[in-house]
Amino acid sequence: MHEAWAAQVAAEAAAYWTEARTRELTGGKQLAILPAEAPVLLRALGLLHRDATMPPAQVRKYLQINHVVRVMDTAMAALRARHPVIRILDAGCGRSYLTLLLAWVARERWHHQVEVLGVDRNPAVIAECERRTAIAGLADVVRFRAANLADLVDEPAHAVFALHACDTATDDAIALGVATRAELIAVAPCCQAELARAWAELGERGAVGGFAPIWTAPHLRRETAAHVTDAMRVALMRAAGYEVTPMEFIGLEHTKKNTLIRGMRVGPGDPAARAAYDALVAATGGCGIGLGTRI
Ligand SMILES: C[S@@+](CC[C@H](N)C(=O)[O-])C[C@H]1O[C@@H](n2cnc3c(N)ncnc32)[C@H](O)[C@@H]1O
Repeated sequence: MHEAWAAQVAAEAAAYWTEARTRELTGGKQLAILPAEAPVLLRALGLLHRDATMPPAQVRKYLQINHVVRVMDTAMAALRARHPVIRILDAGCGRSYLTLLLAWVARERWHHQVEVLGVDRNPAVIAECERRTAIAGLADVVRFRAANLADLVDEPAHAVFALHACDTATDDAIALGVATRAELIAVAPCCQAELARAWAELGERGAVGGFAPIWTAPHLRRETAAHVTDAMRVALMRAAGYEVTPMEFIGLEHTKKNTLIRGMRVGPGDPAARAAYDALVAATGGCGIGLGTRI
């Protein structure tokens, strides 16, 4: 039954995704998967419709997960060289878009064994992930847990990913990766409110400082706090022994949240990076992020 359905999905995708349509979708960029190559996975994820088309909202998600996997190519190759089975954690996995793509790419492209765990605090979302995983035929390598990231201590992974995990969930993912000595931590932060809230309080109190014009302007405060938070995350990850590269992983036209922080564990912590974090906190008004007390 499933095989017949899968064959039909593949035939429809092959017919619809002509070279011209595929080029229009990818913009000529190299992606981890093309629609005609993984139609069952993309149907399971709801990215391809019944008629094999991909509507604009789905295009955005399709491109995001593809670009994350692509920019992790070298880092994942390094893990493959070191580990016969790579354990991957997708923190704040949502509906398992990245989770299942990683599992699919490992099996179909890298031909490497992986154990993938998706974690999300929302049990309804986890139930949907399990449904999708069964449809995609990936249940042998992917499992899920409904849990709060901050409570997760018993799931060491070689690679921790977090794509648009809300607010401080990104920090929970980083803290977890550091605590469990993950070799790769890759986070694309989402909305960020922690530092902006602290700055808003400074503004309301009439605190004096060079950043006061930012503390008191909601839009600038939100935007600046997001960037400063990312800079603090980078410094803290370096302080914990990671070589860290913040980068733009996808064009701004596809998502405003297009920063990805990639860290590879390289050795002992770097006290100078901790000092850089403290200096950044001091320079911007004295407010740090919770992550600063955890690693
Ligand atoms: C914006 S969605 C992104 C989902 C997915 N990574 C993606 O890119 O499609 C954020 C997800 O993080 C989950 N989340 C937020 N905070 C969390 C936490 N502290 N622990 C576990 N999951 C969390 C939410 O339930 C939500 O499903």
